[in-house]
Amino acid sequence: MKKKINIAIDGPAAAGKSTIAKRIAERMDYIYIDTGAMYRAVTLHLIRHDRQILNQLEDLDIRFGAGGTTLYLNGEDVTEDIRTQEVTSNVSEVSSLSGVRRYLVSMQQKIAEDKGVVMDGRDIGTTVLPDAELKIFMKASPEIRAKRRLKEEEARGVDIDLETLTDQIVRRDELDMNREISPLVKADEAVLLDTSHMGIAEVEDTIIKMALDLLEGN
Ligand code: CDP
Ligand code: CDP
Repeated sequence: MKKKINIAIDGPAAAGKSTIAKRIAERMDYIYIDTGAMYRAVTLHLIRHDRQILNQLEDLDIRFGAGGTTLYLNGEDVTEDIRTQEVTSNVSEVSSLSGVRRYLVSMQQKIAEDKGVVMDGRDIGTTVLPDAELKIFMKASPEIRAKRRLKEEEARGVDIDLETLTDQIVRRDELDMNREISPLVKADEAVLLDTSHMGIAEVEDTIIKMALDLLEGN
């Protein structure tokens, strides 16, 4: 059987993780898992149910559609609903809860058991897949990340300005980096990629080359 590896991509908000992870998975015919989407789905569920179900997380059915871009929560397509400002401003708080992390981390580890997974998030290289063969830590300046996010929000018709988005991103990074359990931190062996002045194709090719070198034993 063809050898497969797991690829972990971590970093702060809007560094380019999911865009790149998805493209790499497509090129390598691997499974793409956006763990941020899973934390967003739990957050959406808690908002909708007034935080009643925290002790019944096992009743949540979180599934990705083919290609990993559609997300289903108990059978409902919530791909759009998990990207609202309300979810975004609550997700870091929800993802600091130990029960939520335990539940999602074990689900993520199961998905990656057979290798051939590109997973992006905050704690993949450190906690979820500490044995991943390739670990990337992606960063970019807060200004550039906010500009990237602004373009996306504008395309979705959301009325928000650059300053608000920058504040939001910086605040979320702080919460993610300073939480007690599995904070956002670069794994020692992760390769640091600053994407501030790199195009998407350039980042993608850089990581693909590292993956192929590993697979070919170079
Ligand atoms: O796409 P964006 O950068 O806005 O964020 P995301 O990847 O969708 O993640 C949303 C939030 O989920 C993050 O700000 C973290 O609070 C949390 N998260 C986490 O705690 N651990 C992960 N592995 C992935 C996301
Ligand atoms: O997953 P994460 O929050 O880290 O970021 P993303 O959602 O993949 O990327 C945020 C935006 O930045 C997307 O609209 C990408 O097209 C864009 N991007 C970019 O302009 N240049 C890169 N090198 C990477 C991403």
